Amino acid sequence: MKLLVTGGAGFIGSAFIRLVLETDPAVEVVNLDKLTYAGNLENLAGVALERRYRFVHGDICDAGLVEGLLGEVRPEAIVHFAAESHVDRSILSPQPVFETNLRGTFTLLEAARLRRVARFLHVSTDEVYGSLERPLEADEGFPLRPSSPYAAAKAGSDLLALSYFTTYRLPVTVTRASNNYGPYQFPEKLIPLMISNALEKRPLPVYGDGLQVRDWLYVEDHCRALLAVLAKGRESEIYNIGGNCSLPNLEVVRKILQATGRGENLIEYVADRPGHDRRYALSSQKIMRETGWAPQVEFEAGLASTIRWYQEHAGWVQRVKSGEYQTYYARNYAHRNLELPRLGSG
Ligand code: NAD
Ligand code: DAU
Repeated sequence: MKLLVTGGAGFIGSAFIRLVLETDPAVEVVNLDKLTYAGNLENLAGVALERRYRFVHGDICDAGLVEGLLGEVRPEAIVHFAAESHVDRSILSPQPVFETNLRGTFTLLEAARLRRVARFLHVSTDEVYGSLERPLEADEGFPLRPSSPYAAAKAGSDLLALSYFTTYRLPVTVTRASNNYGPYQFPEKLIPLMISNALEKRPLPVYGDGLQVRDWLYVEDHCRALLAVLAKGRESEIYNIGGNCSLPNLEVVRKILQATGRGENLIEYVADRPGHDRRYALSSQKIMRETGWAPQVEFEAGLASTIRWYQEHAGWVQRVKSGEYQTYYARNYAHRNLELPRLGSG
């Protein structure tokens, strides 16, 4: 089995590559990644010398490169992770989101159609359903009401991917996962940001009242779900992947403070995210019924091992927080009156 993975140097893509190479000795992986600020080959240091793994530096928007690569590699399946994945960045600068999430997905689909790729797994998100009133839960037929440029671009790319099945019979499957957390996550997202700031005794910026609800999914559970969909999922279908762990942000932040031995005085309530979705809630009945998958990692255990990982990988954190991160952090938080970090002084 040969897989072409896009965005494999990011948080979830690298976890997927590590898992699939470890669990399936017959699998070969080609990883196509542009290495944006979020792409980091350090995440794959453990497999870099593995002969069943190959890295290709490139942009999924580059039609010539993508078509040539598909012709050369002839993968049995494409697992498409590459995206601009952060909502706050998509609010500050929507252009790259449009380029990669929409035009990039289109370029990849078109090349897959021309090269007759046998399987196209499009990795998407529960954000496409938008905010849900309690006690609603989105199943796969729920209307799409994306709020941010990120979520709207993901929703558009889902529809485009499905249209390639309807129109061209390209065997597309779409997955929609809830909020992932775990090792190697870029410290712009809630959990790694709060862990890293808590470890450095810096303020923890909570948007609005902090009572927004997210459903937390350990990254390896997500990757196992993707393997289950590759093995047993049906083409033209959508599969939700939830962690069955809905929590208000404030509760997550308090757990992190407790686990890192810090006090609540570090919490700083800051200006809310524009268009902020209040609550996500997902039904994962379909994937559980059809593939037998279920999340295995309890939130307490997943959070503890994630915190441990960040404690043990201070060098990784320092490196990803140098350079571009400082500019982003200032853009996203300065107007919220948050104290900005000074590297190396934590
Ligand atoms: P990430 O930001 O950590 O990684 C994205 C990767 O894509 C990076 O390695 C980056 O270099 C690469 N990339 C970006 N633009 C590219 C381009 N034009 N060409 C090639 N490579 C490019 O993202 P993540 O959190 O690992 O998310 C991966 C996928 O999973 C995304 O599609 C995201 O929408 C989806 N998803 C994420 C979550 C989550 O909680 N993080 C939840 C559900 C779904
Ligand atoms: O639901 C799946 C989605 O989860 C994925 O599609 C996205 O790629 C991923 O980024 C994530 O989106 P969210 O916007 O839910 O995640 P984020 O970690 O940015 O924020 C989680 C919650 O925490 C949200 O309610 C906003 C809040 N938050 C976030 C940050 C960065 C804060 O209160 N303060 C912060 O500084």
